[in-house]
Amino acid sequence: MRRIFLNKNDIHNGNLILVNKSYPFIKREAEMIDALTAIGLISGEIILEKRTATMLIQLMNVLDCTKTIVPVSGYRTSKEQEKIYNDSLRENGEKFTKKYVALPHRSEHQTGMAVDLAQRSEKIDFICPNFPYTGICQKFRQKSIKYGFIERYPKGKENVTGIAHEPWHFRYVGYPHSEIIQNNNLTLEEYIEFIKGYQYSKKHLFLNHGHQYNEVFYLDVFKSKEVEVILPEDVPYQISGNNVDGFIFTLWREKV
Ligand code: DAL
Ligand code: ZN
Repeated sequence: MRRIFLNKNDIHNGNLILVNKSYPFIKREAEMIDALTAIGLISGEIILEKRTATMLIQLMNVLDCTKTIVPVSGYRTSKEQEKIYNDSLRENGEKFTKKYVALPHRSEHQTGMAVDLAQRSEKIDFICPNFPYTGICQKFRQKSIKYGFIERYPKGKENVTGIAHEPWHFRYVGYPHSEIIQNNNLTLEEYIEFIKGYQYSKKHLFLNHGHQYNEVFYLDVFKSKEVEVILPEDVPYQISGNNVDGFIFTLWREKV
């Protein structure tokens, strides 16, 4: 058995952090530098969190779509987000801007785990790029689940996300979470609540893949500053904060 100690401060780290109007991204830019990389192979100026970049590049290579799909926007600093917000206010007005642009510190682009994609064309709209539900873009959307991405602002969930339908905005949450989110037709906001139904000390969530399976559960940290968890020996695991009130654990297990 492995004993793991987790500190409340770490709920703001990891691939499952929820960033929206209610839960701001609190990391300072200086803390982000080591976590980021440029995806120069595809598009010179796009920067992403390292794992997000790796998974996006792998996915685009597998789909052979580096010439047809263009990453338009990835990591943004709070200053950049502020400029985008203010420029949009001037150019598009308040109603549009509130629907399509998050305020600084409320944008998941600041995490480096969000990417806006466009179908390649002569003219690409920076705020609302065209990424249709057909052809290579739809193939990307479907395949991206296995690579840990979700379409973050789906149609019909505007009241939950607080953002209009954005077919172009993908968020890396990691596998198997992308698949659980997809299978249950959830947004990230809803998943953060859904997974609280699978507590550390109670029933866990299982996702089967033949002779392997994932085990997922949640642990809150409201009661103390530090929590202790016991995990099985020799089982690969990942722990992510949710940026709200606790941690989500992912185990990769073998059936015996
Ligand atoms: N377009 C998304 C909501 C953002 O600005 O982060
Ligand atoms: Zn976006």
